[in-house]
Amino acid sequence: MRKKVIAANWKMNKNRGEAEDYINKFLPLLGNINATDPEVIICPPFTSLQTLHDAVQGSYVKTGGQDIFWETSGAFTGEISAPMLTDCGCSYVIVGHSERRHILDESDYNINRKIKSSLAGALIPILCVGETLQERQNDLARQVVKDQMEKALLGIDITAGNLIVAYEPVWAIGTGVNASPDDAQDMIAFIREQLSQLYNPELASAIPILYGGSVKKANMHDFIIKADIDGALVGSASLDPREFSEIVRSVKNG
Ligand code: 13P
Repeated sequence: MRKKVIAANWKMNKNRGEAEDYINKFLPLLGNINATDPEVIICPPFTSLQTLHDAVQGSYVKTGGQDIFWETSGAFTGEISAPMLTDCGCSYVIVGHSERRHILDESDYNINRKIKSSLAGALIPILCVGETLQERQNDLARQVVKDQMEKALLGIDITAGNLIVAYEPVWAIGTGVNASPDDAQDMIAFIREQLSQLYNPELASAIPILYGGSVKKANMHDFIIKADIDGALVGSASLDPREFSEIVRSVKNG
């Protein structure tokens, strides 16, 4: 049985006070689902990491960064390293989010270096892959995602516990138009097949693969009942503690 995972990507939202306020509301709403299955992860901006980590103490909620640099220290203005993230209490880090790929021109090569530095620094990367609308319309979705997977994981040994993949079709992010659960299942099964070819079937069947793109409490159940979908990476709906707690509950009740 694969672990279910629900991760919040707050993107560039919430300062320290807002993060603390959120957790004060969110933890009581979790109630009896305060346990490790599903694993609940919140990824705030770097500036709120320590505050968030302090606020979730005593709960099962884990924290993660939204990005990482591949060196551990040095003259890299503006960057944040694996030791800095773990120092702030992170166990996870998002790598290769489409907003970084498309707005900040992040390359597959750098994503590969970031996955390597995450693993070397004892952080579990949440590797994001997904096609644009144009790529989907041109019937290139599978090829694009295959390519992203191969390049991100090139030369990297993984184990069942040290990787999460998130399939986030770019056209579904922040648009309110989610992929259909059938299409998401189809692509996520395809990603699992890629993992099987890159590694082996046992490992592929043990790695959590999440769906991301306009997930909300109203549609989470339709995704989680699919055979290969192990949870979600949630953007805007994770900014509201009540909505996010309902999404977690929906996954718990499966
Ligand atoms: P939305 O849930 O706002 O569509 O964002 C998804 C996302 O990008 C999560 O990483």
